[in-house]
Amino acid sequence: MRGEGGEAVMEEKRIKTEINWTRKDLLGLKDLSREEIELIIKTAESLKEVSTRSIKKVPTLRGRTVVNFFVEPSTRTRASFELAEKRLSADSLNFSGSSSSLVKGETLKDTAKNIEALQVDLIVIRHSSSGAPHRLAEYVKPGIVNAGDGINEHPTQALLDMFTMKEKKGKIEGLKVSFIGDILHSRVARSNIWGLTKLGAKVTVCGPKTLIPYDIESLGVHRTYNVEEAVKDADAINLLRIQLERQNEPFFPSLGEYAKGYGINAQMLKRAKKDVLIMHPGPVNRGVELTSEVADGPNSVILEQVTNGLAVRMAVLYLLSLVRK
Ligand code: CP
Repeated sequence: MRGEGGEAVMEEKRIKTEINWTRKDLLGLKDLSREEIELIIKTAESLKEVSTRSIKKVPTLRGRTVVNFFVEPSTRTRASFELAEKRLSADSLNFSGSSSSLVKGETLKDTAKNIEALQVDLIVIRHSSSGAPHRLAEYVKPGIVNAGDGINEHPTQALLDMFTMKEKKGKIEGLKVSFIGDILHSRVARSNIWGLTKLGAKVTVCGPKTLIPYDIESLGVHRTYNVEEAVKDADAINLLRIQLERQNEPFFPSLGEYAKGYGINAQMLKRAKKDVLIMHPGPVNRGVELTSEVADGPNSVILEQVTNGLAVRMAVLYLLSLVRK
């Protein structure tokens, strides 16, 4: 993947012979082995360099077509997939739920079948219903990438989180990673838990009792309701947004009360390790999950997560495209 033209093709062939990627779809980290997760991260590490070149483009996916189908709002994930496709020279087509014939009553299956009829190679889908990408993967031949499904999984977010931890700490194995916030409705937490535990990290979840699933320990994580405990030994703290859009009734009295009990401010950060990573998948609610001082402070890697998301999505598109040759 270094350089253009013949050199890039040679490099691609070399990588292809070294890897054993057989999946048509990326639906979640629950399904992936440790080796597959490590392969995506390693591929992303080599692709990150492309975005530092003066000409930020390689011909790897030339002639391939990718459809970005976002039925739920997104800033980071959508922009990142679109840019990843451009960097890899794929042709891409974008549409959202509100601008598609879904609003006229067409089913998701019919929509997907019509996209398939256009001979596309990959469909990147975000949907508010858990399991929607899994259904599409059964219905159609193009590879499906889950860009976030309901409260189930957000695999590329967890991959970019792990990429960032590895880049900053040099490893994942043995890291202590705490998630603080709305664990119950968080697809980011779920994907991270699958991925991090497979790679040997020690995961703690923390939040109000009403926002932590009662059986969370069965996933191999430690639960606490005490923020100080979640903060004090952590190598990375991933702060999760309170997902009011997924709560029919509020799970606690007010955002102000949440911020008082679980929000991370400069005072709480003093109890953490000096080199702790402050992470957030975005969008950030400043003054709720964390104060601006912490979000913009020296421990924050929030924008580096976004940068790394581009490399991770390039890696995912590249690996899935190998199966379609
Ligand atoms: N982290 C994340 O999924 O952000 P968006 O909703 O903006 O894509």
